[in-house]
Amino acid sequence: MHEPQVADALAATVLERCDALAAFSEEPDRLTRRFATDALRLAGASVADWMRAAGMAVGRDAIGNVVGRYAPAGEAATASYEGASGFERPAAAPTLLMGSHLDTVRGAGRYDGMLGVLVAIACVQRLYDAGRTLPFALEVMGFADEEGVRYGTAYLGSSVVAGRFDPAYLDRRDADGVAMADAIRAFGGDVEGLTAARRDLAGVIGYCEVHIEQGPVLEAEDLPVAVVSAIAGQTRARVTFEGAAGHAGTVPMSLRRDALCAASEWIVAAEADARAEEALVATVGELAAEPGASNVIPGRVVVSLDLRHGDDATREAARERLRERAVAIGAARGVDVDWSVVQETSAVGCAAGLTGLLAEAVAAAGHRVARLPSGAGHDAAVMAEIAPVAMLFVRCEGGISHNPAEAVQVADVAAAIDVTSRFLELLARAQ
Ligand code: HGY
Ligand code: MN
Ligand code: MN
Repeated sequence: MHEPQVADALAATVLERCDALAAFSEEPDRLTRRFATDALRLAGASVADWMRAAGMAVGRDAIGNVVGRYAPAGEAATASYEGASGFERPAAAPTLLMGSHLDTVRGAGRYDGMLGVLVAIACVQRLYDAGRTLPFALEVMGFADEEGVRYGTAYLGSSVVAGRFDPAYLDRRDADGVAMADAIRAFGGDVEGLTAARRDLAGVIGYCEVHIEQGPVLEAEDLPVAVVSAIAGQTRARVTFEGAAGHAGTVPMSLRRDALCAASEWIVAAEADARAEEALVATVGELAAEPGASNVIPGRVVVSLDLRHGDDATREAARERLRERAVAIGAARGVDVDWSVVQETSAVGCAAGLTGLLAEAVAAAGHRVARLPSGAGHDAAVMAEIAPVAMLFVRCEGGISHNPAEAVQVADVAAAIDVTSRFLELLARAQ
């Protein structure tokens, strides 16, 4: 049942499919696939085809998540649908949810998110090819937005499934001024159906996500996979520094209210604060300076803040310190500061029961069991609000991610398929 050559062949297909999905990009020279774009639509269509080839009924929900369902023996074949109506599932049918996200950051690697969706499909393919089903259904989700690049709010896809979507997001506008509601409609989604698209929890056993580690530990430990113990909480904020634009040649330094200098002082202070707090990470990834001319003193600067820690109280204390510091720097420079928290996600512990079975599967596959916290956010952090979650990390070269150099070894992907398949068998026995 766990023939290594089967996992090897499936792993090779997974990598081919990651390469195929990497072709669906908004940019010609790098992989960028944001929420509700044509590139995401094309990627979702390929994933839907691969789900059908694995014997799954395929749906697309109100936000554009692609969902494949592999029914247990005896369940009427679920009619596929492309609408936002949702599956006609038997009420309370035992179901394990799996998957990850199909959107990417800008200049992304080709495994962050996609690997988890494709490994889950490979595990279903293995069952389908063997003519087997499990005593529960498997639903594989390709979430439409986890990175939050287009609208600044992460987890739009899993938030809808978890019933945590905030309708206030619908008014958010992207860099081109397109409101989220309009983007969802143009994508074929159903804005009015977003709340109803919440997954009925009856029968849901849990959610399991396979994801690249995006860090260096597995490589350092020479392990192909590891079990995730917890997922760090995160704060996303936008900080606006409002000074006074002016002539670069005529305004004396002593009379300036330079928004970019104020922002720069704060950014360096944020870095120093995070360096001083064990395991706290603070990142300013976006910065927009206006009016943006070399001979004009910047009058307005907007920066993003990404703040994370495994302990929520520590992160929240850091958030307040950084907010106060921004206000103090602004006051000293005659620059007004506006601080707005865009989104906060609490730290999440993975479920002991599911994680225990995953660890058992890792050991049964012949690997040493390591448990790692995740500094990166994942859809599992949102799904944990509605179901027990477990995550399996896969080694990635140099721990590099959110970078085109992201890379995995086919043998490690085969290990992930083997472990996940064993996990499904253990879960079946535990039903
Ligand atoms: O930012 C993250 O942690 C994830 O890649 N969305
Ligand atoms: Mn990512
Ligand atoms: Mn990811």
